[in-house]
Amino acid sequence: MFRHSQLESVKAWLAHPAHAAMPLHARIQRAIRQLILDGALGPGKPLPASRALAKSLGVSRDTIEAAYAQLHAEGFIDRRIGSGSFVTEMTEFTPGRRLSQRDALLRNQAPNISKRGNAMFRSGGVRELLAPRPFAHGVPETRNFPLQLWERLERQVLKETGTQALLHGDPQGTEPLRRAVADYVNLERGARATADRVLILTSSQQALTLCANLLLDSGDRIFIEDPAYYGARRAFDAAGLECVPVRVDRQGIVVEQITTESRKVKAVFLTPSHQFPTGATLALDRRLALIEWAARHQAWIIEDDYDSEFHYAGRPTACVQGLDSHDRTIYIGTFTKSLFPGLRIGYVVLPPQLVKPMTVARTLLDGHSAPMAQLTLARFMEGGHFGAHVRTMRGIYAERLDVLATLVSKRLSDFVEARVPVGGLQMPCMLTCDLSERTAIDAARRVGIEILGLSALHAAGNGKAGFLMGFAAYTPNEIDIAVRKLANALRTVMKA
Ligand SMILES: Cc1ncc(COP(=O)(O)O)c(C=O)c1O
Repeated sequence: MFRHSQLESVKAWLAHPAHAAMPLHARIQRAIRQLILDGALGPGKPLPASRALAKSLGVSRDTIEAAYAQLHAEGFIDRRIGSGSFVTEMTEFTPGRRLSQRDALLRNQAPNISKRGNAMFRSGGVRELLAPRPFAHGVPETRNFPLQLWERLERQVLKETGTQALLHGDPQGTEPLRRAVADYVNLERGARATADRVLILTSSQQALTLCANLLLDSGDRIFIEDPAYYGARRAFDAAGLECVPVRVDRQGIVVEQITTESRKVKAVFLTPSHQFPTGATLALDRRLALIEWAARHQAWIIEDDYDSEFHYAGRPTACVQGLDSHDRTIYIGTFTKSLFPGLRIGYVVLPPQLVKPMTVARTLLDGHSAPMAQLTLARFMEGGHFGAHVRTMRGIYAERLDVLATLVSKRLSDFVEARVPVGGLQMPCMLTCDLSERTAIDAARRVGIEILGLSALHAAGNGKAGFLMGFAAYTPNEIDIAVRKLANALRTVMKA
């Protein structure tokens, strides 16, 4: 039988409005496939008997049989006469990237694609959970999002723009949104932006890929934080760049390592306001030294400011871009955390000389971002709703962080030491017991808990063992239940 959380995931998939047009058996098949891809149903795990699952979901047995037949045809499950259906043994899982058996086979077979294509493929890409579960990191709470307000603003936009919004849009982004973003980053992040220097994209990830390909050539070196955000490292690896890891300490990236480097390095990637994953804030003297280095070497600073809306103790430090009078900084922002990931709107504030080249480059990827969503978002920001939403969520997340930190010290103190962050949506925890990081992650996953290992985020994959616990998307009660589950799971493997 499925565990309660697995059954709930399948039900959530079935009920999701975005899947309403799919036949029922396809929805069930997709939901189970997702559980497999996410690692929630591991290799060799039995699937419920079709009769039992049909009963739990209130559908006919034929529907379940059709879903299982499709999963079988796609290689996700084995069907053994007399004993039932099982997840295929070869399903592979790597943290942060989920590979089906097929993908794993394809990877090993090196398909007939270009070297560049292979580098992209081998990077594993960046794929996030479709249905977040504790403690998936970086996920905001979306269940209380003011959908009615959003819908009203969207209707207003449609009424005013009519069929105009159905046509192609400006590749740089709609003017109202660029203006709203510039006002916001100037006011809240201390940036030096104007609407004509803002480029609206679909995500930070798109910005990272654009930077990697537009600013550097294959073989060029780029400094990256060590440990670093996996999405950045993969974008740079896929573009054929040589990533030069730079140590991070309590004051952020160790800039001295950059300024004393004798080889030519053309750019640096960093998360200065809230280092991913350690949570460190880059000290002011280091920010200034970095800008000085970039100006002297005509290098680029790629500043990923992904979650500074959520700072719980005072205001976050102003961004590097605002301090940089030499125009060497590309500032990247996203609405994935501050609003919701399905929006797919991110942006960059560019030095003037990069606006045209980067706008042209993005047209080769996707033309432009969807005008309706941009115009609705602009209205949401202009009306003060964005600020209000962020303020509300900041209060909610601060409480959740508090709950998580308290529960971790109460129930998990035999295993980990929490590093309570000043901001963001996740809390790093360092392992203090004899368990390996891998064992802890696997034990957690077996009980439906998602934690992101820290050592794999280090360039050499050998950093101090620990994991990230996302807290923003889960209520105090959900956090409580999940911490208990995790504590039991770790205790069980410790004893084994
Ligand atoms: C450091 C960092 N940058 C960027 C992103 C991705 O944001 P987006 O959804 O806009 O690509 C994430 C998401 O987890 C992140 O942690």
